[in-house]
Amino acid sequence: MAILLAGGAGYIGTHTAVEFINAGYEVVIADNLYNSKAEAVRRVEKITGKSVPFYQIDVSDAEALRTLFSEQNIDTVVHFAGMKAVGESVAKPMMYYRNNLNTTLTLLEVMKDFDCHRFVFSSSATVYGFSNPVPLFETMPRGECTNPYGWTKWMIEQILMDACAADPELSVVLLRYFNPIGAHESGLIGEDPQGTPNNIFPYITQVAVGRRPQLTVFGNDYDTVDGTGVRDYIHVVDLAKGHVAAVPYAEKHTGAEIINLGTGRGTSVLEMIAAFERVNGVKIPYVIGARRAGDLAESYANADKAKEVLGWTAEKTIEDMCRDGYRWQTMNPMGYPEG
Ligand code: WQD
Repeated sequence: MAILLAGGAGYIGTHTAVEFINAGYEVVIADNLYNSKAEAVRRVEKITGKSVPFYQIDVSDAEALRTLFSEQNIDTVVHFAGMKAVGESVAKPMMYYRNNLNTTLTLLEVMKDFDCHRFVFSSSATVYGFSNPVPLFETMPRGECTNPYGWTKWMIEQILMDACAADPELSVVLLRYFNPIGAHESGLIGEDPQGTPNNIFPYITQVAVGRRPQLTVFGNDYDTVDGTGVRDYIHVVDLAKGHVAAVPYAEKHTGAEIINLGTGRGTSVLEMIAAFERVNGVKIPYVIGARRAGDLAESYANADKAKEVLGWTAEKTIEDMCRDGYRWQTMNPMGYPEG
Protein backbone atom coordinates (compact mmCIF):
# COMPACT_ATOMS: atom_id res chain seq x y z
CA MET A 1 0.00 0.00 0.00
CA ALA A 2 1.16 3.54 -0.68
CA ILE A 3 0.43 7.08 0.35
CA LEU A 4 -0.40 9.56 -2.40
CA LEU A 5 1.09 12.98 -1.83
CA ALA A 6 -0.98 15.29 -4.02
CA GLY A 7 1.15 18.39 -4.56
CA GLY A 8 4.06 16.41 -3.19
CA ALA A 9 6.78 18.24 -5.14
CA GLY A 10 6.24 21.46 -3.19
CA TYR A 11 7.87 22.80 -0.07
CA ILE A 12 5.82 20.92 2.51
CA GLY A 13 5.16 17.92 0.27
CA THR A 14 8.84 17.12 -0.30
CA HIS A 15 9.67 17.32 3.40
CA THR A 16 6.68 15.13 4.18
CA ALA A 17 7.73 12.60 1.51
CA VAL A 18 11.14 12.26 3.19
CA GLU A 19 9.60 11.67 6.62
CA PHE A 20 7.11 9.11 5.33
CA ILE A 21 9.87 7.21 3.53
CA ASN A 22 12.07 7.35 6.63
CA ALA A 23 9.17 5.90 8.62
CA GLY A 24 8.95 2.96 6.20
CA TYR A 25 5.97 4.02 4.04
CA GLU A 26 5.75 3.78 0.25
CA VAL A 27 4.92 7.14 -1.30
CA VAL A 28 3.70 8.26 -4.71
CA ILE A 29 3.92 11.93 -5.70
CA ALA A 30 1.47 13.69 -8.01
CA ASP A 31 2.17 17.31 -8.90
CA ASN A 32 1.50 19.52 -11.93
CA LEU A 33 4.71 21.48 -11.21
CA TYR A 34 2.74 24.74 -11.32
CA ASN A 35 4.71 26.06 -8.38
CA SER A 36 7.43 23.42 -7.98
CA LYS A 37 10.20 21.66 -9.90
CA ALA A 38 10.86 18.04 -10.81
CA GLU A 39 14.32 18.48 -9.31
CA ALA A 40 12.69 18.61 -5.86
CA VAL A 41 11.46 15.03 -6.30
CA ARG A 42 14.95 13.92 -7.36
CA ARG A 43 16.31 15.53 -4.20
CA VAL A 44 13.85 13.53 -2.10
CA GLU A 45 15.23 10.40 -3.76
CA LYS A 46 18.77 11.54 -3.06
CA ILE A 47 18.07 12.13 0.63
CA THR A 48 16.23 8.84 1.16
CA GLY A 49 18.04 6.58 -1.33
CA LYS A 50 14.62 5.38 -2.53
CA SER A 51 13.00 5.91 -5.89
CA VAL A 52 9.68 7.70 -5.76
CA PRO A 53 6.98 7.16 -8.41
CA PHE A 54 6.20 10.62 -9.77
CA TYR A 55 3.14 11.57 -11.86
CA GLN A 56 3.26 14.98 -13.46
CA ILE A 57 -0.49 15.44 -13.46
CA ASP A 58 -3.06 17.90 -12.22
CA VAL A 59 -5.09 16.10 -9.57
CA SER A 60 -8.21 17.91 -10.75
CA ASP A 61 -7.85 15.88 -13.98
CA ALA A 62 -10.04 12.92 -13.05
CA GLU A 63 -8.87 10.70 -15.91
CA ALA A 64 -5.19 11.19 -15.09
CA LEU A 65 -5.92 10.60 -11.42
CA ARG A 66 -7.83 7.40 -12.20
CA THR A 67 -4.83 6.13 -14.16
CA LEU A 68 -2.62 6.81 -11.15
CA PHE A 69 -5.02 5.00 -8.80
CA SER A 70 -5.26 2.04 -11.15
CA GLU A 71 -1.47 1.74 -11.34
CA GLN A 72 -0.68 2.32 -7.66
CA ASN A 73 -2.13 0.79 -4.55
CA ILE A 74 -3.15 3.97 -2.71
CA ASP A 75 -4.74 3.68 0.74
CA THR A 76 -4.21 7.25 1.99
CA VAL A 77 -4.16 10.64 0.30
CA VAL A 78 -2.32 13.63 1.75
CA HIS A 79 -3.52 16.72 -0.06
CA PHE A 80 -1.12 19.65 -0.52
CA ALA A 81 -2.10 20.44 -4.11
CA GLY A 82 -3.22 24.04 -4.00
CA MET A 83 -2.36 27.60 -4.81
CA LYS A 84 -1.22 29.53 -1.77
CA ALA A 85 -0.25 33.12 -2.55
CA VAL A 86 -2.52 35.42 -0.55
CA GLY A 87 -2.04 38.51 -2.76
CA GLU A 88 -2.48 36.57 -6.00
CA SER A 89 -5.69 35.06 -4.62
CA VAL A 90 -7.13 38.56 -4.15
CA ALA A 91 -6.30 39.42 -7.77
CA LYS A 92 -7.44 36.07 -9.24
CA PRO A 93 -10.16 34.71 -6.96
CA MET A 94 -11.85 32.47 -9.53
CA MET A 95 -8.55 30.78 -10.32
CA TYR A 96 -8.07 30.05 -6.62
CA TYR A 97 -11.59 28.76 -6.03
CA ARG A 98 -11.57 26.72 -9.24
CA ASN A 99 -8.20 25.14 -8.58
CA ASN A 100 -8.23 24.56 -4.84
CA LEU A 101 -11.80 23.27 -4.69
CA ASN A 102 -11.56 21.17 -7.87
CA THR A 103 -8.43 19.34 -6.76
CA THR A 104 -10.13 18.42 -3.50
CA LEU A 105 -13.42 17.32 -5.07
CA THR A 106 -11.73 15.22 -7.72
CA LEU A 107 -9.50 13.54 -5.17
CA LEU A 108 -12.51 12.66 -3.02
CA GLU A 109 -14.51 11.31 -5.96
CA VAL A 110 -11.70 9.19 -7.35
CA MET A 111 -10.76 7.92 -3.88
CA LYS A 112 -14.31 6.68 -3.37
CA ASP A 113 -14.26 4.82 -6.68
CA PHE A 114 -11.04 3.08 -5.66
CA ASP A 115 -12.12 2.30 -2.09
CA CYS A 116 -9.61 4.63 -0.52
CA HIS A 117 -10.94 6.18 2.68
CA ARG A 118 -8.17 8.12 4.38
CA PHE A 119 -7.51 11.77 3.70
CA VAL A 120 -5.10 14.18 5.37
CA PHE A 121 -5.57 17.83 4.46
CA SER A 122 -3.17 20.71 4.49
CA SER A 123 -5.30 23.35 6.19
CA SER A 124 -4.21 26.61 7.74
CA ALA A 125 -4.48 28.61 10.94
CA THR A 126 -5.87 31.35 8.71
CA VAL A 127 -9.34 29.74 9.17
CA TYR A 128 -9.40 30.97 12.79
CA GLY A 129 -9.99 34.48 11.42
CA PHE A 130 -9.62 37.68 13.42
CA SER A 131 -11.84 37.41 16.46
CA ASN A 132 -10.47 34.44 18.36
CA PRO A 133 -8.00 35.16 21.19
CA VAL A 134 -4.60 33.44 21.30
CA PRO A 135 -3.66 30.68 21.88
CA LEU A 136 -5.89 29.19 19.19
CA PHE A 137 -7.76 25.98 20.08
CA GLU A 138 -9.33 23.59 17.58
CA THR A 139 -12.65 23.97 19.41
CA MET A 140 -12.87 27.69 18.60
CA PRO A 141 -15.30 28.77 15.88
CA ARG A 142 -13.82 29.37 12.48
CA GLY A 143 -13.71 33.06 11.59
CA GLU A 144 -13.85 35.34 8.60
CA CYS A 145 -10.94 35.00 6.20
CA THR A 146 -9.43 38.11 4.64
CA ASN A 147 -8.63 36.68 1.22
CA PRO A 148 -9.80 34.01 -1.24
CA TYR A 149 -6.82 31.76 -0.48
CA GLY A 150 -7.92 31.60 3.16
CA TRP A 151 -11.54 31.03 2.16
CA THR A 152 -10.51 28.05 0.00
CA LYS A 153 -9.01 26.42 3.11
CA TRP A 154 -12.18 27.25 5.05
CA MET A 155 -14.44 25.87 2.32
CA ILE A 156 -12.38 22.72 1.83
CA GLU A 157 -12.60 22.03 5.56
CA GLN A 158 -16.39 22.31 5.23
CA ILE A 159 -16.46 20.03 2.18
CA LEU A 160 -14.42 17.43 4.04
CA MET A 161 -16.62 17.58 7.13
CA ASP A 162 -19.72 17.19 4.96
CA ALA A 163 -18.10 14.30 3.07
CA CYS A 164 -17.42 12.54 6.38
CA ALA A 165 -20.98 13.10 7.56
CA ALA A 166 -22.22 11.38 4.39
CA ASP A 167 -19.72 8.52 4.33
CA PRO A 168 -19.19 6.56 7.55
CA GLU A 169 -16.08 4.90 6.12
CA LEU A 170 -14.24 8.16 5.42
CA SER A 171 -11.52 9.34 7.78
CA VAL A 172 -10.22 12.90 7.44
CA VAL A 173 -7.54 14.69 9.42
CA LEU A 174 -7.56 18.46 8.96
CA LEU A 175 -4.11 19.69 9.88
CA ARG A 176 -4.10 23.41 10.59
CA TYR A 177 -0.59 24.62 9.96
CA PHE A 178 0.78 27.64 11.72
CA ASN A 179 3.89 29.15 10.05
CA PRO A 180 6.13 26.45 8.55
CA ILE A 181 9.71 27.59 7.92
CA GLY A 182 13.23 26.14 7.72
CA ALA A 183 14.42 23.24 5.60
CA HIS A 184 15.67 19.68 5.73
CA GLU A 185 19.02 19.59 7.47
CA SER A 186 20.75 18.19 4.37
CA GLY A 187 20.16 21.56 2.66
CA LEU A 188 18.95 19.66 -0.42
CA ILE A 189 15.27 20.60 -0.17
CA GLY A 190 13.70 23.83 1.03
CA GLU A 191 11.31 26.61 0.18
CA ASP A 192 11.70 28.00 -3.33
CA PRO A 193 9.12 30.74 -3.88
CA GLN A 194 8.66 32.19 -7.36
CA GLY A 195 9.29 35.92 -7.55
CA THR A 196 9.24 38.12 -4.47
CA PRO A 197 8.54 36.04 -1.36
CA ASN A 198 5.26 36.85 0.38
CA ASN A 199 6.30 35.24 3.62
CA ILE A 200 8.88 36.51 6.02
CA PHE A 201 11.27 33.60 6.29
CA PRO A 202 12.19 33.10 2.62
CA TYR A 203 12.52 36.88 2.44
CA ILE A 204 15.05 36.83 5.27
CA THR A 205 17.06 33.98 3.73
CA GLN A 206 17.15 35.81 0.38
CA VAL A 207 18.41 38.97 2.10
CA ALA A 208 21.00 36.84 3.92
CA VAL A 209 22.49 35.57 0.64
CA GLY A 210 22.38 38.99 -1.03
CA ARG A 211 19.47 38.38 -3.41
CA ARG A 212 17.57 41.27 -1.79
CA PRO A 213 18.99 44.36 -0.10
CA GLN A 214 16.81 44.52 2.99
CA LEU A 215 13.70 43.32 4.74
CA THR A 216 10.74 45.58 5.43
CA VAL A 217 9.18 44.90 8.82
CA PHE A 218 5.44 45.34 8.39
CA GLY A 219 4.59 47.53 11.37
CA ASN A 220 6.11 47.97 14.84
CA ASP A 221 3.09 49.42 16.58
CA TYR A 222 1.16 46.23 17.36
CA ASP A 223 0.26 45.38 20.93
CA THR A 224 2.96 42.71 21.20
CA VAL A 225 6.23 42.15 23.04
CA ASP A 226 8.15 44.61 20.80
CA GLY A 227 5.42 46.00 18.55
CA THR A 228 6.05 43.59 15.65
CA GLY A 229 3.83 40.71 14.57
CA VAL A 230 4.01 37.46 16.53
CA ARG A 231 3.65 34.06 14.84
CA ASP A 232 4.00 30.40 15.73
CA TYR A 233 6.89 29.36 13.46
CA ILE A 234 7.24 25.61 13.10
CA HIS A 235 10.15 23.73 11.53
CA VAL A 236 8.97 22.14 8.29
CA VAL A 237 10.51 18.79 9.34
CA ASP A 238 8.45 18.81 12.54
CA LEU A 239 5.40 19.68 10.46
CA ALA A 240 6.19 16.80 8.08
CA LYS A 241 6.39 14.40 11.04
CA GLY A 242 2.94 15.59 12.11
CA HIS A 243 1.57 14.16 8.84
CA VAL A 244 3.30 10.84 9.49
CA ALA A 245 1.66 10.74 12.94
CA ALA A 246 -1.74 11.52 11.39
CA VAL A 247 -1.83 8.35 9.28
CA PRO A 248 -2.04 5.69 12.02
CA TYR A 249 -4.61 7.91 13.70
CA ALA A 250 -6.68 8.01 10.48
CA GLU A 251 -6.43 4.23 10.27
CA LYS A 252 -8.14 3.89 13.65
CA HIS A 253 -10.83 6.55 13.34
CA THR A 254 -13.49 7.71 10.97
CA GLY A 255 -14.98 11.18 10.75
CA ALA A 256 -13.21 14.53 10.48
CA GLU A 257 -10.71 15.58 13.12
CA ILE A 258 -9.17 19.05 13.29
CA ILE A 259 -5.62 19.23 14.64
CA ASN A 260 -3.30 22.24 15.00
CA LEU A 261 0.30 21.78 13.94
CA GLY A 262 2.18 24.46 15.80
CA THR A 263 4.67 24.77 18.63
CA GLY A 264 2.45 26.76 20.99
CA ARG A 265 5.12 29.47 21.15
CA GLY A 266 5.07 32.90 19.53
CA THR A 267 8.07 34.72 18.07
CA SER A 268 8.07 38.35 16.94
CA VAL A 269 9.55 39.60 13.68
CA LEU A 270 12.39 41.34 15.53
CA GLU A 271 13.07 38.21 17.61
CA MET A 272 13.24 36.18 14.42
CA ILE A 273 15.70 38.59 12.80
CA ALA A 274 17.89 38.57 15.95
CA ALA A 275 17.88 34.76 16.15
CA PHE A 276 18.75 34.45 12.46
CA GLU A 277 21.66 36.89 12.81
CA ARG A 278 22.98 35.23 15.95
CA VAL A 279 22.80 31.64 14.72
CA ASN A 280 24.17 32.28 11.25
CA GLY A 281 26.59 35.14 11.89
CA VAL A 282 25.03 37.30 9.16
CA LYS A 283 23.44 40.75 9.21
CA ILE A 284 19.84 41.16 8.08
CA PRO A 285 19.40 44.83 7.20
CA TYR A 286 15.81 45.95 7.72
CA VAL A 287 13.57 48.99 7.73
CA ILE A 288 10.31 49.48 9.55
CA GLY A 289 7.40 49.92 7.15
CA ALA A 290 3.63 50.23 7.37
CA ARG A 291 1.39 47.44 8.59
CA ARG A 292 0.36 44.97 5.88
CA ALA A 293 -3.39 44.84 5.24
CA GLY A 294 -5.01 41.77 6.72
CA ASP A 295 -2.24 40.97 9.25
CA LEU A 296 -3.01 39.89 12.80
CA ALA A 297 -0.94 41.11 15.73
CA GLU A 298 -0.52 37.63 17.17
CA SER A 299 -1.21 34.08 16.07
CA TYR A 300 -0.08 30.97 17.89
CA ALA A 301 -1.46 27.55 18.59
CA ASN A 302 -2.51 25.62 21.57
CA ALA A 303 -0.67 22.45 20.56
CA ASP A 304 -2.06 20.06 23.20
CA LYS A 305 -4.46 18.17 20.96
CA ALA A 306 -1.74 17.00 18.55
CA LYS A 307 0.15 15.63 21.53
CA GLU A 308 -2.87 13.85 22.99
CA VAL A 309 -4.33 12.54 19.76
CA LEU A 310 -1.30 11.97 17.55
CA GLY A 311 1.45 11.65 20.15
CA TRP A 312 3.27 14.39 18.22
CA THR A 313 5.00 17.52 19.43
CA ALA A 314 7.26 19.95 17.61
CA GLU A 315 10.84 19.42 18.75
CA LYS A 316 12.94 21.91 16.84
CA THR A 317 13.80 25.42 17.99
CA ILE A 318 13.76 28.76 16.23
CA GLU A 319 17.56 28.42 16.08
CA ASP A 320 17.24 25.08 14.22
CA MET A 321 14.79 26.72 11.79
CA CYS A 322 17.19 29.63 11.15
CA ARG A 323 20.23 27.40 10.73
CA ASP A 324 18.57 24.87 8.43
CA GLY A 325 16.77 27.51 6.34
CA TYR A 326 20.01 29.43 5.82
CA ARG A 327 21.88 26.24 4.87
CA TRP A 328 19.30 25.48 2.17
CA GLN A 329 19.52 29.04 0.80
CA THR A 330 23.34 29.17 0.79
CA MET A 331 23.51 25.77 -0.95
CA ASN A 332 20.79 26.83 -3.44
CA PRO A 333 20.95 30.63 -3.62
CA MET A 334 18.61 30.77 -6.62
CA GLY A 335 16.45 27.83 -5.51
CA TYR A 336 16.14 24.63 -7.53
CA PRO A 337 17.58 24.55 -11.02
CA GLU A 338 15.07 24.35 -13.91
CA GLY A 339 14.07 20.99 -15.33
C1 WQD B 1 4.69 36.63 9.29
C2 WQD B 1 4.98 37.93 10.04
C3 WQD B 1 4.16 39.90 8.91
C4 WQD B 1 6.84 39.59 5.44
C5 WQD B 1 0.57 33.91 5.69
C6 WQD B 1 -0.84 33.55 5.29
C7 WQD B 1 -1.21 32.20 5.81
C8 WQD B 1 -0.22 31.15 5.38
C9 WQD B 1 1.19 31.58 5.67
C10 WQD B 1 0.44 30.27 3.22
C11 WQD B 1 3.81 38.92 10.03
C12 WQD B 1 5.67 39.92 8.99
C13 WQD B 1 6.17 39.38 6.64
C14 WQD B 1 7.73 40.71 5.34
C15 WQD B 1 7.21 41.26 7.63
N1 WQD B 1 -0.38 30.87 4.01
N2 WQD B 1 6.36 40.19 7.71
N3 WQD B 1 7.89 41.49 6.45
O1 WQD B 1 0.97 36.40 7.44
O2 WQD B 1 1.35 34.75 9.33
O3 WQD B 1 0.67 33.93 7.11
O4 WQD B 1 1.44 32.90 5.20
O5 WQD B 1 0.59 29.50 2.49
O6 WQD B 1 -2.47 31.88 5.39
O7 WQD B 1 -1.74 34.53 5.79
O8 WQD B 1 2.97 34.80 7.43
O9 WQD B 1 5.36 35.00 6.79
O10 WQD B 1 3.64 36.45 5.60
O11 WQD B 1 4.21 36.93 7.99
O12 WQD B 1 7.42 42.00 8.59
O13 WQD B 1 8.36 40.95 4.29
O14 WQD B 1 6.05 38.60 9.37
O15 WQD B 1 3.63 41.17 9.08
O16 WQD B 1 3.82 39.58 11.28
P1 WQD B 1 1.44 35.07 7.88
P2 WQD B 1 4.09 35.77 6.86
